[in-house]
Amino acid sequence: VEKKPTIRIAFSQCVGSDAWRQTMLEEMRRELSFHPDVEFIYRDADNSNERQIEQLHELRSMRPDLIIVSPNEAEPLTPVVDQIFQHGIPVIVTDRKTSSGLYHAYVGADNYEIGYMAGQYLARRLGYVGTISEITGLPGSSATIERQRGFHEALKSYAGIRLKTQINGQWLIDVAKRRAAQQMADLSQSDAIFAYNDQMGFGTYQALRKAALKHPIKIVGVDALPGDNNGLQFVSEKVLDASMLYPTGGKECIQTAMAILTGQPYQRENTLSTLVVDSSNVQLMKLQTDKIISQQADIDKQQGLFAEQQQIFSNQQRVLNILVVS
Ligand code: FRU
Repeated sequence: VEKKPTIRIAFSQCVGSDAWRQTMLEEMRRELSFHPDVEFIYRDADNSNERQIEQLHELRSMRPDLIIVSPNEAEPLTPVVDQIFQHGIPVIVTDRKTSSGLYHAYVGADNYEIGYMAGQYLARRLGYVGTISEITGLPGSSATIERQRGFHEALKSYAGIRLKTQINGQWLIDVAKRRAAQQMADLSQSDAIFAYNDQMGFGTYQALRKAALKHPIKIVGVDALPGDNNGLQFVSEKVLDASMLYPTGGKECIQTAMAILTGQPYQRENTLSTLVVDSSNVQLMKLQTDKIISQQADIDKQQGLFAEQQQIFSNQQRVLNILVVS
């Protein structure tokens, strides 16, 4: 029997353990299940630039047909991603970027716009007067840099809004919680906080509660992920005032990869849409995401059944072949 040539797609993820990135991976795998001829190679750098650089060198030497990468921090990851690109291996950059812009396609929401929307939202919620602090992600991640540019740009239009303090939460709930507690003196003088993701927003919320402040501080996050202990739940329970939706784009990454590999037209910039989720629309969002999750579970079940049928069919074929030959 002639075997179909296999396409190999490699994915270098900056960190794989959080819910947002697990959702991204699930989306990729679901889309990949429509392409049984694709072999998927996955590496998780666990938040480390050095580790991701090593893994990308390893992936490059395996010469896959295409590499998808979400670079932990832009500057340190740029040389290796550029090398891969210059080697002629198609590169899709997703969520975070390198600093050179050498890629075949980018998939992700516009982080500048997300920061801008957060700024406008908070200014309005404060009645255009007050102080705001920031809990940022890793300072070298393009998502931090762009969210911050957008956020500061938006606030420039409001003379009554001042920035108070800035804490590097490294994208992590525990770091945000610890540093928020350490800098409570400054933080407690803010009227609102922009946390660059919902998890850090939740960590900050826990630190604020522990400090038992007299006045409420509004917290806005980013991601608006469905599921337990994620953004949609935080907004619906009023732990967060709002969250800027940040789609993971797993499905779009695989679709773009397949378009590139099969010579179909594709876009270089694939900008995923975003919106503000707050008390006015969070229930609707929850309803819709619950429905999508249950439909996806149905698709997974159908695919499982289909795979079983295929197995039975190929067993029967084998038996038939044996019978015919003998
Ligand atoms: C997940 C995450 C998200 C955030 C994104 C930024 O690892 O921290 O919460 O929106 O990365 O790149």
